[in-house]
Amino acid sequence: METGETRARRCILYVPGSDTRKMEKAATLGADCVCFDLEDGVAWNQKENARPLVARALRELNFGVSEKLARINAIGSGMERADLEAVVPARPDAIVIPKVSDAEQIKWVSETIQRLETGDSPIVLIGMIENARGLMNVREIASADARLQALIFGAEDYAADVGATRTREGLEVLYARSAIVAACAASGIQAIDLLYLDFRDPEGLRTEATRGAQLGYAGMQAIHPNQVEIVQEAFTPSADAIANARRIVEAAREHLNAGHGAFALDNKMVDMPIIKAAERVLARARRTNSRKLGNET
Ligand code: COA
Ligand code: MG
Repeated sequence: METGETRARRCILYVPGSDTRKMEKAATLGADCVCFDLEDGVAWNQKENARPLVARALRELNFGVSEKLARINAIGSGMERADLEAVVPARPDAIVIPKVSDAEQIKWVSETIQRLETGDSPIVLIGMIENARGLMNVREIASADARLQALIFGAEDYAADVGATRTREGLEVLYARSAIVAACAASGIQAIDLLYLDFRDPEGLRTEATRGAQLGYAGMQAIHPNQVEIVQEAFTPSADAIANARRIVEAAREHLNAGHGAFALDNKMVDMPIIKAAERVLARARRTNSRKLGNET
């Protein structure tokens, strides 16, 4: 059983909250998550205009299968309270909190939402780790609050914060990228990977998304409609991977019952970690399958 992953979040597509046309379009693309942004995707002089536009889009658009998210400005920016007051009554499924630097920030948002919230299902929180302080505190952040279901790695902001130069290979962010996956796994929540800025490079995107999936990420961020399908595919187990996982799990059942902890399959050793990894693949396949049917369990 894969813990903490209550629903598929293979792709989070951002849309500037000041752009009504893009918000309308984003809701129709079949992305697992659509995130209306009030933070860095919105110009300073549009911050106030964007709030009612995002609230209206959350209320009025038909999101189909997509989970609807709103990203507020960072805690301490001076805009975070007004952002929450504007969007929480419009009932997003989740609030994304950027530049989280300690667990208190997650708790503050959770308590503020509690006061503003109406309706039955509690609003989920998704935090972003994208500065050095956030990374140093990621263990506490990952277990800060029951509403928190995922952490996102913001690689561009992180690199800027520590003074790293971004490269195609990404070695400069590998430590942070791996540490976030580990912290999320330890707390049983999802990890969502960095984004790929060159939205006209499908091959580069596929390579980056595949690497994220290999590192253990459950999904990735996106900024353009033509990234959604590639990203979602990269975070969906392939037919071959599913077939292979099924064989391992079936063979394991027989061998474990017969009292063998380790056995051979196709000239390779199989033991508990291999079986667990196969079970994870099957769990992920079940989740993406139920997601396709619009079933959010
Ligand atoms: N969501 C929904 N629709 C989008 C979109 C997005 N993120 N990005 C582009 N589109 C739409 C455009 O409106 C256009 O549709 P239209 O012709 O029907 O109007 C179509 O997709 C093609 O867009 P394109 O011309 O290729 O791109 P652009 O120059 O309009 O926009 C960006 C490029 C990067 C500005 C845009 O993709 C964007 O705003 N991305 C999100 C940025 C963001 O939120 N950043 C903060 C978080 S990292
Ligand atoms: Mg950022």
